[in-house]
This record gives sequence, C-alpha cells and structure tokens, in this order.
Amino acid sequence: MKITYKLCRENDLIPAFKMVRGSMNHLRKSTGKEPLRYRVRRYPEVIHLYNNDQKRFWCAWDGKKIIGFTGALLRGKQWYLAFLFVHPRYQNKGVGRELLKRVWMNAPGMTHSLSTFAYNVQAVGIYSKFGMAPLCALPVMEIKLDKLQRPVPSDLKASTTITRQDIAWINQLEAKIRGYSRPQEWRFWSKQDEIQIYLFRNKGQRVGYSMAHKKWGVIAPAGAVTNDYLTKIVTDTIGLIKTSEKSIRLYCPTNNLNLYRYLIGMGFRILEMDLFLSDKPYADFQRYLPAQLAIF
Ligand SMILES: CC(C)(COP(=O)(O)OP(=O)(O)OC[C@H]1O[C@@H](n2cnc3c(N)ncnc32)[C@H](O)[C@@H]1OP(=O)(O)O)[C@@H](O)C(=O)NCCC(=O)NCCS
Repeated sequence: MKITYKLCRENDLIPAFKMVRGSMNHLRKSTGKEPLRYRVRRYPEVIHLYNNDQKRFWCAWDGKKIIGFTGALLRGKQWYLAFLFVHPRYQNKGVGRELLKRVWMNAPGMTHSLSTFAYNVQAVGIYSKFGMAPLCALPVMEIKLDKLQRPVPSDLKASTTITRQDIAWINQLEAKIRGYSRPQEWRFWSKQDEIQIYLFRNKGQRVGYSMAHKKWGVIAPAGAVTNDYLTKIVTDTIGLIKTSEKSIRLYCPTNNLNLYRYLIGMGFRILEMDLFLSDKPYADFQRYLPAQLAIF
C-alpha cells in the first residue's frame, strides 16, 4: 500500500468530507452511538476556512481514493486543528501522524489546540504525543424548545444592528479573552444570513456579544468582559434566538462552573462529552463560550 500526501484542492473537499462522515460514523458505531445521517455539501464555513488556510489543508491518498484529511488554522500565534480524520481501514498505520506533521507549525510563543471526542482515546493519545493535553471538558449541551421556559431577560440591552465599530470592539475583546482575535471570521460571520450577532450593553457600555445560528439552533461563540455578564448574555441569547430547529445547543466548558450549573439547572442535557486540548493554557473560559469546534 503506497500512501501519498498532497495539499488539498478545493475540489477535494467534498470527497474528503464524505470520508470524514464515514470515519466519524465508524467511531460512533463502535462506541454505541447512532450514526449521523447528513448529505455532504459545499459548506460555506469550510470553504471560508479553506480559503484562509489553504497551505494547512492536506489529503492522504491511496491511488485515486482520499483516505485521510486534515485542516489546521493559524490566527496570530494560535495554531488550531480544525479536522483530522483517517478512513477506518487505514487507521493505526501512521497516516494521522503524518498528516499532523504536515500541518504542524511552530514558533516562539505559539499555542497548539483542538477539540475532540472524549470517547476516542486514540485521538487524545495521538494529540498528546504532539504535546497537547486535555485541559477541560466541553460537553455538547442541548435543550428541546418544547421543554424550555424562556428565561427572564437580564438588565442588559441587546442590539442586532452591528456596526463596524462593534465588530472592532468584539475583536479587541476576543484578543483578551481568547488570546488572539480573528477578524477574518467576524468578516465572514457578519455576511451570513443564517447568523445573528447580538451585542450587549449595560448603561450604554458594551459588555459582550453572542452569535446564534438560526438554522442549526446553536449559540456559539459568546464573550463578555466578566463572568457574570457571560451568564447573562447566554441567558438572554437563549431567550432571543429564533431557530427552525427543535432545540438549542451550545458547548459549555465545564470549568465555567457558574454557567455550567446554570444551564443544567435550566434543563439542558449533555448530548456528548468533548474535550479541549492544548499545549498551553489558552482562552479564558470564565468569559468565553467557544464557537463551533472546527474553529473554536
Ligand atoms: C484519530 C485518527 C485521526 C488518528 O489517525 P491514525 O492514522 O489512526 O493514527 P496513527 O496511526 O497515525 O497514530 C497512532 C498513534 O496514536 C497514539 N495512540 C493510539 N492509541 C493511543 C492510546 N490509547 N493512548 C495513547 N496514545 C495512543 C500512538 O502514539 C500511536 O502511535 P504509535 O503507536 O506509533 O505510538 C484516526 O484514528 C481517526 O480518524 N479516528 C476517527 C475520527 C477521529 O476521532 N478524529 C479526530 C477528530 S479531532
């Protein structure tokens, strides 16, 4: 078997994501979970990441078949692994490690991070070999809308008219609470019809933001100047979100005890346990609720 490694072309993304679906469902089945049934399509979110980080997207091939795929992002000195998947028949043969080596970047002060499934010890193991360790649990939490008692709004004022100055403020806040800002993501998110950005003020002063995906019913990311404000902002977003889904989902870092306990008390259920891994402490989870896992 001769495996070759090539930079990913845009046309490779659809076959690569079909392989990702197979690899993920193999893992789900082998750990007693229902497979995910979805049609792979040209996801704008993935094209956005690919366009920004083309040099960090690689495929492994066996002849004409994609059998491995990875994509990593670089924001400031933050390296983040968005995807790493190997076809089940080719796992445990060094393909994942080779792909990881190809997208790995190092420089003084650089952080390396990712989120992965707690139930895949092999994935946690391979990342640990690269120096990253699980720093925090990241449960996927969900509440069905028919079980949700819409929370009483806080005293904050939410705005959906988001100006350039607001986005600049969000970027400055994220530099503090995440370690690095990501203007390219905010430019992209601001233009998506399915995404609603909220900016929150207290007595006229900006105190935080949140983002809600109307189609998926996902709240992520959210950030605030203090932990108290973050809980209020998530509460208010749960009250405000308009979604065609039957539930609301988010990823709550368990070391944000206030928010985690609050969500559990409100009736959120844990769907799946994911982990956040990093080689340096990164992101202040008291003030930051992560974005979707491919991007954090
Ligand atoms: C996780 C995955 C990408 C790894 O790719 P792979 O090609 O199977 O892995 P490799 O053969 O390159 O590397 C295996 C390494 O993992 C490490 N490893 C495996 N199991 C381990 C364990 N239980 N504990 C610690 N380390 C472990 C070892 O370092 C091993 O290398 P070694 O045997 O030479 O020491 C692949 O198995 C996969 O796609 N899994 C399903 C999807 C998934 O979970 N993806 C991660 C999403 S972020």
